[in-house]
Amino acid sequence: MTLVLKDRFGRIHDYLRVSLTDKCNLKCIYCTPHQINARDKLDKSEILSFDELLRIIRVFTTRLGIKKVRFTGGEAMARKDIMKFFWTLAPLKEKTGFEFAITTNGTLLKENIEALKKCGLDRVNLSLDSLCPGVFKYITGSDKLQDVLGCISSLEEAGFENLKLNTVVIRDINHLETADFVDFFRYRDITLRFIEFMPFQNNGWTKEAFVSSEEVRRHIEKRFILEKIEDRHQIADLYRVKGYKVKVGFIRPISEHFCANCNRLRIKANGSMKLCLFDPEESEIDLKAALRNGSDDIELIRLISEAMKLKEKEHPDVGSLAQGNRNSMQNIGG
Ligand code: GTP
Ligand code: 5AD
Repeated sequence: MTLVLKDRFGRIHDYLRVSLTDKCNLKCIYCTPHQINARDKLDKSEILSFDELLRIIRVFTTRLGIKKVRFTGGEAMARKDIMKFFWTLAPLKEKTGFEFAITTNGTLLKENIEALKKCGLDRVNLSLDSLCPGVFKYITGSDKLQDVLGCISSLEEAGFENLKLNTVVIRDINHLETADFVDFFRYRDITLRFIEFMPFQNNGWTKEAFVSSEEVRRHIEKRFILEKIEDRHQIADLYRVKGYKVKVGFIRPISEHFCANCNRLRIKANGSMKLCLFDPEESEIDLKAALRNGSDDIELIRLISEAMKLKEKEHPDVGSLAQGNRNSMQNIGG
């Protein structure tokens, strides 16, 4: 029998985000905590093994109504032997038909695109914060802009449709580049999503660095005509760009949070389940302990369903988020 994960407010949760590792080969300024200790990184024994991941995903997709599984990181493709895992996931994906998605920085993917397709990968979202090599280097700490652009082209050639590119907009770093993004990708089947910079532990967020989606939209509208697309299933406000193929979206978690439509649950690499992106660590549910102390599927299902009752209606306002000690984005996976 399949249950649905409904919370106290009637929201059905059918989208699971799974962080495969807290490690990343890039060091994006908005994501990596600025002061990081070696001991903050997880040891191998602390992260869910491939067998444990597979079991959790099987329970969520066959018993709990999860229809979409998105793998994140750190950088998902930085997990050692990750392709081995995706090959073992493939039969489950084929049997249950959940949407298999990944969010990646696009620097470690290119060699595996065909294999990923064969494993059933449906959708790819990529982070891309600048088209200018110097700014890209400033944000990510790396020179891999051309690798990311090459990866995007290879994904398109391999037949991946409607790639989504995520750009975190930061004032005086990339905020004036947003219209150039539209120009650069104008003839391509791509959705550019400009994301409001969110505060996390030590990630340099300030009110001054924050740029609202409204401001970004006005900037883009100086050069392009945006036509609204109604789609209530997306967290982004979506627009067509008149005369071109590219689409533009705005993800505005700060200026207009989208908690009312939340359908997401998250599992961190250490096996903790998070009900909300902004929940503090203390309220996470330790699925790894349950897996490792021999819980059977029924007990796992009970633990997860009970936890759903604790999900809050919405997360606190941005002022308190900026001060709170809420793990890093690198740890949660977005
Ligand atoms: P789709 O499945 O294609 O809709 O992708 P997605 O937007 O769910 O995933 P992605 O990993 O590309 O995330 C894009 C951005 O949205 C990231 O900055 C995430 O942190 C942010 N985001 C995703 N889910 C939530 C959420 O539940 N709350 C908030 N505030 N932000 C979120
Ligand atoms: N604010 C907004 N978006 C962020 N991401 C990572 N950190 C932040 C932040 N502080 C986004 C990246 C990535 C996605 C998973 O999360 O753009 O694509």
